[in-house]
Amino acid sequence: MSKRVAICPGSFDCITLGHLDIITRAAAMFDEIIVVAMNNQQKTYTFTPEERVSMIKKATTGIKNVQVDLYDGLLAEYAAKKGASAIIKGLRAMSDFEYEFQMALTNKKLNPEVETLFLTTSAENMYLSSSMVKQIASMGGDVSDFVPSVILDDILKKLSPEKKQKHLNNGG
Ligand code: PNS
Repeated sequence: MSKRVAICPGSFDCITLGHLDIITRAAAMFDEIIVVAMNNQQKTYTFTPEERVSMIKKATTGIKNVQVDLYDGLLAEYAAKKGASAIIKGLRAMSDFEYEFQMALTNKKLNPEVETLFLTTSAENMYLSSSMVKQIASMGGDVSDFVPSVILDDILKKLSPEKKQKHLNNGG
């Protein structure tokens, strides 16, 4: 029987414990999961594509059927290229739903072979988002309850107030 492959796409700017929860649960349902950092044209990113991928790799090393990739193109095309049968997305609240529903229908139109599956987020991650993590870190707050511990240093290196201060002092 051929391998059942699913894609977990996202911006992952930066990966949070909410993302990791969805990836871990998806990995239990499929033979192979490809976590792919993509571009959402409605967002500007804090971390470079390579930094986003590196943080996902660090966060997912413990899950053996997970691969990590970077792709700058259409998700529907990428899913076809990888022979994936599903796209997995996490849903936090009703506010996520309309946008995700629109993307799922569009992707189905572009690639009828692939289904979008929604996993409900765990209750403790309902409120969690990458932008909230970045805001807290940049104001010197503790984000250790929100992100995998292996990427804490990467976040602080980029966003801690001291780091920003150094940039200002250097005129950068
Ligand atoms: O984490 P995000 O920002 O909600 O992820 C959104 C993402 C990156 C999965 C979405 O913007 C996407 O699929 N981008 C790739 C380009 C594409 O296929 N666009 C059409 C989607 S309907």
